Amino acid sequence: SATAKGKSLAFKAIDPVHHEIDEFVVPNGYSWHPIVRWGDALFPDSEPFDPENQSVKKQRRQFGYNNDFLEIQVDRSGDGNRALLFANHEYSNDAIMYPDSMDEKTKRAISREAHGLTVVELERRNAKTPWAVDVNGANNRRFLIGTEYEFTGPAAGSDLLRTRDYPKGDKVQGTLGNCSGGLTPWGTLVSGEENFNSYFRAQGKSEADKRYGLTNDASAYGWEDDLQRFDTNKSGYGNEANRFGWIVEVDPRDPESTPLKHTSLGRFKHEGANITIAESGHAVAYMGDDEKFDYLYKFVSKGKYIEGDLPHNLTLLSEGDLFVAKFTGNSPKSEIDGSGAVPADGEFDGSGQWLPLITDGKSQVSGMAIDEVLVNTRLAADKVGPTKMDRCEDVEPNPVNGKIYVACTNNSDRGTDGKAAADEANPRTENRDGHIVELTERGGDHTGTEFDWSLLMVCGDPKQGDKTYFSGFPVDQVSPISCPDNVTFDSAGNLWISTDGAPDGIGYCDGLFKVTIEGKQRGRVEQFLSVPREGEVCGPLIHDDDKSAFVAVQHPGEDGSWANQHSQFPDFVDATDVDAGVAAMPRPSVVQVLRGKGKDNGKPPKKDS
Ligand code: FEO
Ligand code: CA
Ligand code: CA
Ligand code: CA
Repeated sequence: SATAKGKSLAFKAIDPVHHEIDEFVVPNGYSWHPIVRWGDALFPDSEPFDPENQSVKKQRRQFGYNNDFLEIQVDRSGDGNRALLFANHEYSNDAIMYPDSMDEKTKRAISREAHGLTVVELERRNAKTPWAVDVNGANNRRFLIGTEYEFTGPAAGSDLLRTRDYPKGDKVQGTLGNCSGGLTPWGTLVSGEENFNSYFRAQGKSEADKRYGLTNDASAYGWEDDLQRFDTNKSGYGNEANRFGWIVEVDPRDPESTPLKHTSLGRFKHEGANITIAESGHAVAYMGDDEKFDYLYKFVSKGKYIEGDLPHNLTLLSEGDLFVAKFTGNSPKSEIDGSGAVPADGEFDGSGQWLPLITDGKSQVSGMAIDEVLVNTRLAADKVGPTKMDRCEDVEPNPVNGKIYVACTNNSDRGTDGKAAADEANPRTENRDGHIVELTERGGDHTGTEFDWSLLMVCGDPKQGDKTYFSGFPVDQVSPISCPDNVTFDSAGNLWISTDGAPDGIGYCDGLFKVTIEGKQRGRVEQFLSVPREGEVCGPLIHDDDKSAFVAVQHPGEDGSWANQHSQFPDFVDATDVDAGVAAMPRPSVVQVLRGKGKDNGKPPKKDS
């Protein structure tokens, strides 16, 4: 049964780890194994990682930087020892990646190729050994800054997407700021373009530029010094920034396929998307806009899912209805005092509505055409009165109970001067540690417009005196948790949460946590792992049938410099060892945590016969 499977990843919670400790910590009885690192070979012709002599050409054939979303699909049709890994590469940490002697222009050019996406095949000897990259995999692919994506949906070809390079507004080169994502029910991957604004110098004057954080200042990455399209002041490039901020979709089993950017799902700082099939057969995507006081969205496809018909299913995200969420609490406003104190009815809860932005192929927002709603979705949503949330990160339906889990990571501005006050769905002023919303579609209908909700937890460290809530579970028996970001589920329907920013909140390194959802233990938080200094835990996956968990470790040691690295993850070679070179620096990596010792790490499995 599902419950029995879930138990196979049994563990005793680890203690939280101080934020300056550079260690990867797993529970007793488990081992951890980096299965692919920044710079690792993906193809037979990939050159070995040599950071002192890194180049554009090398990076294009190697695993990219800052892996965030992660999916590993095990091929169960054979011996179960082959799999397909998908990861995105959100951004680069140029200050720690390159020797100081390298010129800035070269650093930027390499970093552009360290962004994007990776598909790579994995192999293993058996379920007790870790996965390893197979550089000969036929599906291995890097999606680079020059890779063309095709726009789908009502805004494809819109004037708002046209540039001098793409006068038809039908295609775009590259994907930027990819954060979380999801595996679709038809086996493709979707990934969210999040902080795209930081790649542009913009005109910065329009209402839209202001709403999306696009300013006429030098960009964070400085790419506008190399390529005109990253400066929307340049003639013919006024719309270039409109071509980012979308949900992308990739077919990992067709290396020749053109990846898609779906305009039907709107444009904002997309954390990611997770898709479920409603009873009616429609595909429903749940999505967060990760910005303080921004919104929760859902998309309902016009077409219906047809099992096994990939060409048809690949059209589902091109056309449909778009909604934004409004939450209404059921406790008196006077009981929501911003401290996080639980209201008198014992719960942070209430009802909600999905407010339409687009239905039946028509804009439902007065004064905005459908392409304007899709390109400037934040401006459209502002007009219909949704609830300003505390930074919606991963939003994912639980395959066991059908409820939707929304990670609200934090919002230091909640309730401060001139900003929205605490409400029942975002109950803490200057919300440092975040919370989790559990959303239940009315009647279990994912296509509907009414829902109920409650908070599963209000995070923090009870031992440090934080006011927390864990669905009534005793607060003195939970692992401290702060800044929930990505979520996933095990086969029993338990929620697993990875965090980003805990060091600034509760003072511990970020980690991966299991939260029991059903029964007397509901709300119990148990820490499963802790990542090295300055690292973030992304892309969690639980393969309990293989007694494994996977995480993508992002930006370890990000506050260091080339000469003073703060982390040596994952190889942990002593930085004072002059011969160490390569390894005495942090490398964002995908890690497999395996019950048992997991021998033969790092070596391709031996081929029998
Ligand atoms: Fe890239 Fe919202 O985290
Ligand atoms: Ca209540
Ligand atoms: Ca994230
Ligand atoms: Ca997830």
